[in-house]
Amino acid sequence: RCRFLLEELAVSQARQLTVQMMQNPQVLAALQERLDGLVGSPSGYMESLPKVVKRRVNALKNLQVKCAQIEAKFYEEVHELERKYAALYQPLFDKRSDIIKAAYEPTDEECEWKADEEEKLTEEMKEKAKVEEEKKDEEKEDPKGIPEFWLTVFKNVDLLSEMLQEHDEPILKHLQDIKVKFSDPGQPMSFTLEFYFEPNDFFANQVLTKTYKMRSEPDEADPFSFDGPEIMGCTGCQIDWTKGKNVTLKTIKKKQKHKGRGTVRTITKTVPNDSFFNFFSPPEVPENGELDEDSEAILAADFEIGHFLRERIIPRAVLYFTGEAIEDDDDDYDEEGEEADDEEGEEEADEENDPDYDPKASDLCQ
Ligand SMILES: *[C@@H]1O[C@H](CO)[C@@H](O)[C@H](O)[C@H]1NC(C)=O
Ligand SMILES: *[C@@H]1O[C@H](CO)[C@@H](O)[C@H](O)[C@H]1NC(C)=O
Repeated sequence: RCRFLLEELAVSQARQLTVQMMQNPQVLAALQERLDGLVGSPSGYMESLPKVVKRRVNALKNLQVKCAQIEAKFYEEVHELERKYAALYQPLFDKRSDIIKAAYEPTDEECEWKADEEEKLTEEMKEKAKVEEEKKDEEKEDPKGIPEFWLTVFKNVDLLSEMLQEHDEPILKHLQDIKVKFSDPGQPMSFTLEFYFEPNDFFANQVLTKTYKMRSEPDEADPFSFDGPEIMGCTGCQIDWTKGKNVTLKTIKKKQKHKGRGTVRTITKTVPNDSFFNFFSPPEVPENGELDEDSEAILAADFEIGHFLRERIIPRAVLYFTGEAIEDDDDDYDEEGEEADDEEGEEEADEENDPDYDPKASDLCQ
């Protein structure tokens, strides 16, 4: 399912790219040249082979299917290994959490850090630091732990900040930890993201959870597309909102006209509101697998976020807090931007050899 959704995503990205390229005849000509070299060659060749050889090629394909099945076992063991190592990381993550929520005050020795001389702050980061410094000065009392740690991480990561609404921020200030739990051995492969909140006025839950079901077996209909575990679906949790605090709802006023009498009355209706907390009530995938376009887009983004939280943010949250982990991502964008702007382009861009070219779509599912 995930792969399917991502393919959709790739198609729409390709469409966007095509539109951009259509506006650049040079790029278009270069592309055409490449396409001319590719189109038609493999299928024509297979058809030209003698029957006996084609038959043996089929045997090779059957071997390939068996390889995919072994590869699936490989990824199951990777999952086991991840589970084993998760237990080794956990005490460190627990300590991280204790420092953030002021349950533990690190010693002077633990706080020693040799700043890297070569590490240059960007202007933007300097500006941000200044603003933060001023803000800190305004605060009279000594802050506890690392205030707004996770909210800051969320704001720093584009993928998450896009979901973040202003009314979510006061709630996320109470977020104290995010953990990832892997499924037990022998159970269907999955991972659960656990969001730990300190007691707050918004909801009663101490933990909000989001579980991603994975599948690590080749699709019978398309075994050659197998490329590691895929996210198949996800489930959220019920949030016990305090009365009047449900930010995923808003009330709207609607005028209604009485058909007979022609009098107008105003009614109030509750409708869904944009919020990060909609993350905990993802669209359900119906049995027949058919999803409308909106749900499909939501799930594609959702799987990407789930994967990113597990794979990048939870393991190295501090670097997203400081911005160090984001710098790399920004560099990628800058390079892409420069390339796109460079209209002189002496030679066609060698996309295969460009490490930034791979859209990494398949990574998202693993
Ligand atoms: C609904 O969303 C808007 C815009 O994001 C926000 O201003 C408003 O406070 C939200 N309503 C509720 C009830 O949270
Ligand atoms: C909060 O709003 C969601 C819809 O966005 C709804 O499904 C849920 O039942 C509401 N919860 C409470 C406690 O009102």
